[in-house]
Amino acid sequence: MRLMVVGGGGREHAIIKKLKENKSVEVIYALPGNGGMADDAELVPIGAKDIDAIVAFAKKNKIDYAVVAPDDPLVLGCVDRLEEIGVPCFGPRANAAIIEGSKVFSKNLMKKYGIPTADYRVFENARDAYEYLKDAPIPTVVKADGLALGKGVIIATEREEALDAVRSIMEEGKFGKSGSRIVVEEFLEGPEVSVLAFTDGTSVVPMVSSMDHKRALDDDKGLNTGGMGTVAPNPYYTPEIANICMQNIFIPTVKAMKAEGREFRGCLYFGLMLTKAGPKVIEYNCRFGDPETQVVLPLLKSDLLEVMMATTEGRLSEIEVEFSKDSAACVIMASSGYPEAYKSGYPISIDPSVKDNVYVAGAKLDADKLLTAGGRVLGVCATAPTLEAALSLAYERVEKVGFENAFYRRDIGARALMAKEA
Ligand code: AMP
Ligand code: GLY
Repeated sequence: MRLMVVGGGGREHAIIKKLKENKSVEVIYALPGNGGMADDAELVPIGAKDIDAIVAFAKKNKIDYAVVAPDDPLVLGCVDRLEEIGVPCFGPRANAAIIEGSKVFSKNLMKKYGIPTADYRVFENARDAYEYLKDAPIPTVVKADGLALGKGVIIATEREEALDAVRSIMEEGKFGKSGSRIVVEEFLEGPEVSVLAFTDGTSVVPMVSSMDHKRALDDDKGLNTGGMGTVAPNPYYTPEIANICMQNIFIPTVKAMKAEGREFRGCLYFGLMLTKAGPKVIEYNCRFGDPETQVVLPLLKSDLLEVMMATTEGRLSEIEVEFSKDSAACVIMASSGYPEAYKSGYPISIDPSVKDNVYVAGAKLDADKLLTAGGRVLGVCATAPTLEAALSLAYERVEKVGFENAFYRRDIGARALMAKEA
C-alpha cells in the first residue's frame, strides 16, 4: 500500500509510526511532515492547506489511502477532493468537519439533539454582545466561531476581559473571518477528559481516554499552549462515566450528524468536562488530538491501518479494536518562550535508545543535522503497566534528548496520579 499522511506535527509522527507496523505498507509520504520524521516517512514539501497540490501529488504518486490529520485541510474539503479522484481517506468530509470548523454549528447541534454542553448565546455583532455582557454571569467564556489555531477561546474572569475579547475578535478582527460570529458561554468547572473515537458514521469506538496539560508552566500556570504533555488513560474517566458519555454524548452526536446529512467518518474528538451535573461537551474536534494521539496510539493493540480502513468503509462494527491496559505518558519539549516568541535553529540530539519513543513536532533537516524549528519541538513518550512507571520512564527518556533552550513541564501526570490516589 502506498500511503500519504497530510500534516506535519507530533500527532502525524505518531500516526505514521503506527501505520508502519502494517506489513502491506510500501511507502508513507508525509505532506509536509518535518525533518524529525525523515527515517519514518518520505517528506514532501507540500503544505497541509495546499489542497490542489495535495490532490495532484496523490494522483501522480498513485496513493492507495490517505490520512488527513489536521483541522484546516479537513475543513477545507481535502477529503472530498481526494475522494473525487478515487483516493479513499481517513477523515471527515467538509460538511462533517464543520463540527470543529464552526462552534456556532456545534453548539446548535448539541442544543437541537439534547447533548449536554454549557449554556450559550450566539452573537453576530459586537453591539449585542456588549449589551449581553453588561450583566452576564462572570466568569464567562468567549469563543470565536471558526478555527483560530487553538487560540480562539477566552476565559474571562472579569467583565472587562470579556468585553476586550469581543472587541479584539469582532471589531479588530484578531482571527479574521473566524471571528465574524462568536459564542459566549457558561463557565464550567470540573476535570477535563479527552476522548478520541473512531466512527464510521454509525458505530462509535472510543479509544482509551487521555488528559492534556494545556498551560505552559508547572501547576497549570502560564499561558495556554497547544498542549505540553498528556497521559492515558485519564483516571477521572471511570467506567461509569464512560458509559454515561457513550449513551448521552458519543452515540447521540454521531446519530445527530447522520440525521443532519453530515455523516462523520474518521476520528471524532470529544473534549469533555466532568461537571457536578454530569459530563458536558466543551468542544468537538474533527480529528486526532495533539498531543493526545502520542499517548493513545501507542496503547492501540490492533492494526491502525486496518481500523482506519474499516472506518472509511463503514465496517467498524465488524472488527475488534483493542487497547492495552497499560498507561502512557508524553512530555512535550518546547523552545523556551513558547507559546510566545522563541528562537529556533538549534541542533537536536536524540539518543538512539529512545528514538522510537520520540515524536517530532517542529524540526528541520539541514544537511544531516536535525535543528529545532517550532515552539513545540518534540514529545518524549513511554508506556508501562502503571501511570507512575510510564511517567518516570518518560522523564528518564527526556534526559536522553536535548537541544539548547529546551523547556518542559516537570509535573505532567501529577494531577492524574493524585486523582488515582483519591
Ligand atoms: P478549546 O480551544 O475549545 O480547546 O478550549 C480551550 C480550553 O478552554 C478548554 O480545554 C477548557 O479548559 C477551556 N474551556 C472552554 N470552554 C469552557 C467553558 N465553557 N468553561 C470552562 N472552561 C472552558
Ligand atoms: N490537544 C488539543 C487538541 O488537539 O485540540
